[in-house]
Amino acid sequence: MSRTNKKIAVIGAGNVGATCAFVLAQMKIGQVVMLDIYEGFAKGKALDMSQNANVLNYDGTITGTSNYEDIAGSSVVVVTSGFPRQPGMTREDLIGKNAEIVRQVGEGIKEHAPDSVIIMVTNPLDLMTYHMQKVTGFPKERVVGQAGVLDSARMTHFIAEAVGCSEEDVSAMVLGGHGDTMVPLPSYTTVSGIPITQLLDDETIRKICERTASGGGEIVKLLERGSAFYAPGSAAAIMAESVIQDRKRLIPASTLLSGEYGLDDVYIGVPVILGSTGVEKIIELELSSQELESLQKSGNFYKEQLTSILGY
Ligand code: NAI
Ligand code: 2OP
Repeated sequence: MSRTNKKIAVIGAGNVGATCAFVLAQMKIGQVVMLDIYEGFAKGKALDMSQNANVLNYDGTITGTSNYEDIAGSSVVVVTSGFPRQPGMTREDLIGKNAEIVRQVGEGIKEHAPDSVIIMVTNPLDLMTYHMQKVTGFPKERVVGQAGVLDSARMTHFIAEAVGCSEEDVSAMVLGGHGDTMVPLPSYTTVSGIPITQLLDDETIRKICERTASGGGEIVKLLERGSAFYAPGSAAAIMAESVIQDRKRLIPASTLLSGEYGLDDVYIGVPVILGSTGVEKIIELELSSQELESLQKSGNFYKEQLTSILGY
């Protein structure tokens, strides 16, 4: 069991935050500190996870706190604090409350972990990631949003089910905003290198894309209270791992565009290379005119909301 001095902070010890911390602990890549506005909530979950260390064979420390001084020295900060959706709500309905939480959290990170890479999870994801970058004033490379890993994993699951193959062999790509305007890309989705168009008919692919785009809502409806957290927490942990270990994973993530894909000054999901300095490269895919139009529509939807609701 390796011990490492690297430190990862997870803000918000709720469903997504605690899942992310639990996955990170099992990855054995750093000390994990969970911060929540409710100190006992973070401390209790950290103690529970620590008592699981022998069972699942992880060492190192998992601690809980409500004090930002305890996140000092973190290389990565995963932000999950904020309200989740309830049935009937869109992610955009969360804007007002969550923007204020992101402001408070951003100020804490700026003061106590000024060199960290921030991985945003709080919804509405693309807007809150933009807001966090503005609040902290961090370089755009060091503020990135989690959505594409989750949305692609959802698409992967539906494809594996439809093809009847292992999940491991599917590689899906979903771009755009984390909401109804997301852009699943069958043209960049393969099973062991085989384009899915050779394995599934058009109607099946269309239904998979539709189910992917409403994947979060499907779970909200089933749960009746709150939203998905196992896959979202794990997706954020995968991004934290790529930063901590400089793995340079090529994954879709919400990043600030400056002209790429014909979009400017908006956070939206596109393929990036994620390493120790954050977003090291934005990959510009060749898209059909219809795909590009969908991505631009998604970007412009969020750009409009940045101005009309958040006042940017
Ligand atoms: P939750 O309600 O279980 O946890 C949120 C936690 O944030 C609570 O423990 C709460 O005490 C804490 N919190 C609230 N205000 C805070 C503050 N000012 N400082 C520190 N902590 C604070 O919610 P859950 O299910 O964990 O979801 C968290 C967020 O993640 C929601 O906004 C949700 O919509 C979003 N989400 C995003 C996904 C994505 O793919 N980007 C996927 C799933 C959820
Ligand atoms: C999800 O996609 C609600 O963003 C959350 O599950």
